Amino acid sequence: MNEQSPLTRPTPVLPDAQTVTAVQHYTDRLFSFRLTRPRSLRFRSGEFVMIGLMGDNGKPLLRAYSIASPSWDEELEFYSIKVQDGPLTSKLQNIKVGDEVIVRPKPVGTLVLDALLPAKRMYFIATGTGIAPFASLMRDPDLYERYEEVIMCHTCREVDELTYGRDLINGLADDPLIGEFVGDKLKYYPTSTREQSPKMGRITTLLSNGIVAADLGLPPLNPETDRLMVCGSMGLNNDIKEICEAAGMEEGSNSSPSHYVVEKAFVG
Ligand code: A2P
Repeated sequence: MNEQSPLTRPTPVLPDAQTVTAVQHYTDRLFSFRLTRPRSLRFRSGEFVMIGLMGDNGKPLLRAYSIASPSWDEELEFYSIKVQDGPLTSKLQNIKVGDEVIVRPKPVGTLVLDALLPAKRMYFIATGTGIAPFASLMRDPDLYERYEEVIMCHTCREVDELTYGRDLINGLADDPLIGEFVGDKLKYYPTSTREQSPKMGRITTLLSNGIVAADLGLPPLNPETDRLMVCGSMGLNNDIKEICEAAGMEEGSNSSPSHYVVEKAFVG
């Protein structure tokens, strides 16, 4: 008998399946998780991949997710919104260690260091889950080799929504692998818009009216010295583009590096 009976046949494995190694919930709308990394997946910090679960119809249900872990990490990390009636995140929010998640190993994206011309200072501007690509870049030694100063601006509605980024940033200086690269180069600028906190308001407003510059002792945006990477809602991306263009900056890309790059925060 060569043919296996249905009872002894091994459980089918999902195509491109990776195993969940950790899950952390921050609020009833936000969580992060870590997966094993496909051997074939090489990526540049800041890029995104398609990930997901098998749908009820037997077809993969995939969405674009920025990889939040740096390119040197053995595992992959993702930061996600939970949408109660969302086709993917309503299920993804229930994953446990040992479960499988599909990862298509084809990374792409514009938020890569190579899309910007050399300069002194880097601004990362994120709203909500848009901090994910910067969670990757902030852990990449290459960032600190290229820039003297990095400013991570993160705006959320409520203070709890800042926790993922705050915990990550607070741990960086003492990180045995990249702490010495980070040194005192990274400045964190968190703001909230709908709950009281030490710094309130949209980052767009705070940049335009000079408050960020005044708080951090920085000169106005200048295409000679400053670069920006932006990841958030369409509204944020468009408003920051206007601010950049008004400062004489041009949008960059992989094939034509320039002063700033923008990507939509995908899920949520
Ligand atoms: P606000 O509370 O004033 O709308 P969301 O949860 O809707 O994605 O928003 C995440 C954060 O991004 C919120 O703090 C929100 O502020 C802020 N935000 C939304 N649109 C913009 C925009 N066009 N420019 C700057 N910040 C924005």
